[in-house]
Amino acid sequence: MSLLPIIEVPDSMLRAQSAPIERVDEELERLITSMFETMYEAPGIGLAAVQVAVPRRLMVIDLQDPEEVGEGEEEGPPVRRPHVFINPEILHRSDARKSYNEGCLSIPEQYAEIERPDLVRLRWLDRSGTPQEGEFDGLMSVCIQHEIDHLDGVLFIDYLSRLKRDMMVKKVVKARKDRDQAAVL
Ligand code: NI
Repeated sequence: MSLLPIIEVPDSMLRAQSAPIERVDEELERLITSMFETMYEAPGIGLAAVQVAVPRRLMVIDLQDPEEVGEGEEEGPPVRRPHVFINPEILHRSDARKSYNEGCLSIPEQYAEIERPDLVRLRWLDRSGTPQEGEFDGLMSVCIQHEIDHLDGVLFIDYLSRLKRDMMVKKVVKARKDRDQAAVL
């Protein structure tokens, strides 16, 4: 297990088309474990393999929702519910759309309201290589669509105007430069 470096814009690998996974084996299991560790550490709720420089059709998601509590009670600690999606494929998207404020570990500190289909029907292989099918809505649906976009070289900023998109990339580049050059004492 190890933390993996997350690549950021404008790295051209983020624009790569990820290739299907052909074998669910021990090597893949190690990658999945490292991706979860990297995602929890970041912290984030979703990570596509291409973001750790492995352009394969694999993504991990954990919304880390707080535990359900009774009304008026204080929110419980976040509960981990790790989901692995190998070779995910969207079978159906609802006409109804919903907008969420999205961010991305490869575009740090930048956020925007993005509108997407509210509900998706998905087919994928789970961590053991077993085919699964299911329907998702809410934040899980947003996260699935955002991560599948990564597998196709698409970023959430692509849904914004060119002006906004360029501005966000510039901000990330500048923040990184500032960070690299700073003497942190
Ligand atoms: Ni992302």
